[in-house]
Amino acid sequence: MNREILVTSALPYANGPLHLGHLLEYVQTDIWVRYQRLSGNKCRWVWADDAHGTPIMLRAEAEGITPLELIDRMKLEHERDIAGFLLSPDNFHTTHSEENREMAELIYTRLRDAGLIVKRTIKQLYDAKANMFLSDRFVKGICPNCGEPDQYGDNCEKCSATYDATELKSPVSQVTGTVPEIRDSEQHFFALSTFKDMLVEFTRSDAVQDEVANKLKEWLDDGLQDWDISRNAPYWGFEIPDAPGKYFYVWLDAPIAYISSHKHLAERTGEDFMKTWKPGSEVEVYHFIGKDITNFHCLFWPAMLEGAGFRKPTGIFCHGFLMVDGAKMSKSRGTAVTVETYLKHLPPEYLRYYFAAKLTSGVVDMNLNLEDFVTRVNADLVGKVVNIASRCAGFISKQFDGQLSATYPENLRKDYDNFISARSIISEHYETREYGKAMREIMLLAEHANTYINDAEPWVKIKAEGGRDEVQAICTVGLNYFRVIMTYLAPVLPELASKTESFLNTTLSLEAIDEPLTAHGIEKFKPMMTRIEPAMIEKIIEETKELAATEASAITGSNPDVEPIKDEIDISVIEKLDLRIATIVDATAVEGADKLVELTLDIGLEQRTVFAGIKAAYKPEELVGRKTVMVANLKPRKMRFGLSSGMVLAAGPGGDNLFLLTPDDGAEPGMRVK
Ligand code: 2FM
Ligand code: ZN
Repeated sequence: MNREILVTSALPYANGPLHLGHLLEYVQTDIWVRYQRLSGNKCRWVWADDAHGTPIMLRAEAEGITPLELIDRMKLEHERDIAGFLLSPDNFHTTHSEENREMAELIYTRLRDAGLIVKRTIKQLYDAKANMFLSDRFVKGICPNCGEPDQYGDNCEKCSATYDATELKSPVSQVTGTVPEIRDSEQHFFALSTFKDMLVEFTRSDAVQDEVANKLKEWLDDGLQDWDISRNAPYWGFEIPDAPGKYFYVWLDAPIAYISSHKHLAERTGEDFMKTWKPGSEVEVYHFIGKDITNFHCLFWPAMLEGAGFRKPTGIFCHGFLMVDGAKMSKSRGTAVTVETYLKHLPPEYLRYYFAAKLTSGVVDMNLNLEDFVTRVNADLVGKVVNIASRCAGFISKQFDGQLSATYPENLRKDYDNFISARSIISEHYETREYGKAMREIMLLAEHANTYINDAEPWVKIKAEGGRDEVQAICTVGLNYFRVIMTYLAPVLPELASKTESFLNTTLSLEAIDEPLTAHGIEKFKPMMTRIEPAMIEKIIEETKELAATEASAITGSNPDVEPIKDEIDISVIEKLDLRIATIVDATAVEGADKLVELTLDIGLEQRTVFAGIKAAYKPEELVGRKTVMVANLKPRKMRFGLSSGMVLAAGPGGDNLFLLTPDDGAEPGMRVK
């Protein structure tokens, strides 16, 4: 029996462009959805822009436009990028839609009528100068959990702790720059704690990955707090029906858009969307999400659904973050690449394949190593896969009028059957989101196909007397291998798959490959994919840096090289830093790392090893003997090449444009910098 499946990806905020970090999840979703469709299952993907909340209000204000104008523009940009990356949602809607307003009101009303919404007066931050309560994004301060400065009032980007804005240390209003006061305000809470038992069971079920369940256990063990689902005006969102001046918090109506986008789709297709969302439904529902939003999806959302009489998701598929060249994406280093910039220089399938090759079902961060990206795409897709077709196609079209052999060579049928039997393990890997394993299986087949052609040497045999039939047979075998491989790769490489269909004059399907193509006419081969040149990557990085500089100059209003000043910090933050004068006693370039130099630093009391990303700016031998400044109390970090115990200080945007700090003459190793 074919399955009915509904899939969602997390909704991107409509306040900025999509970047490669977003794409990791969307590509992961798209591959899964395409695989399900290829397997004959009815799989729908519903999705939307997350168009509410304070950041959208702030961004619109900064641009001098209305929030509605901003979200309309962003939606068009997001849709352009979605199409550009060959993502195949059935519907891409917005949380700011009538369907979503109705659905949010329905769910809220049901929760309220079931006694699950409680009003409570709480303390909130109030900006007396601007005469307004400050929602989470209007205030910044020091994280009460880990001490990280410059954090918003809802959660910490560093340690992921969620907290109340009143708990922030040294809060500063982002509206007026003044210190806010604390005032009473009545808010609506969702009685999350009522669902404790259900949530303990749900998070321990197959619906949630073990590593996510373990993390959520801390929340469940600490006792679930009721969840504040309302925000005071001014707020960009839906007003709560029975509470004028109060709005639904963005995270209340965001996941509800999974349902309302489905409803919007059903208006086109005529399907009964509520069949999916009723308790006991046989339709499977899966949410693809990142590791930063597990509490919303595995705790708040199932509780809301259950409380409002809807079904809960079948599974929540959580992934880690994307790193580029081993570090968090950074605008100034040019690695926070937008989808738009990427697509100007490279086709989408290269990155789709690279992501697939490295994706697992786990919640681990993925490193996009740019050098490895170039090597792997060139080696696998161009060198192994497309190469099979280009080596065989010429003979078939030039020598045999585009016709494959009438029959398949009997002695090679067993090998062909091995290609077919790989289908079950590859399918299992797709199904369980172990795409990396699927890609490895497929590449083994591609290697086998290439070895076969190498050994068979059609280019030699074509010259031998009576060799023609054999060449036709060899190329028929090669092209059949190519067909099977491209069928397996179709969820990852939809455009290449469709080029293959035109070239082979056939529709790719998992059943069709049971029998090889014989006595069949194919089209003339057109080049399908070219190698990536490293220069293309350099252009992407350069353009991203330029974009960042333009943004920065828009903020600083002057020199594009000057980064904007970060938010104010307290003197106590400085007092924690232990900066020391150090003499560089040894410096060697780290092999295998394109940026790192291993420094041995003498700081008077002891010697330290520090890996510094300054290879492009300095020759190691020039550094020896030089004095500099280091952070001596930085927690040692384990790197691929060893332990780095500290950090040297340098100025500049990065790359070869970096300048190590040097003290005046007379400063001695070990002296504290004050
Ligand atoms: O974290 C985010 O980017 C949110 N916009 C995701 C929302 S997903 C869902 F719940 F709507
Ligand atoms: Zn923190």
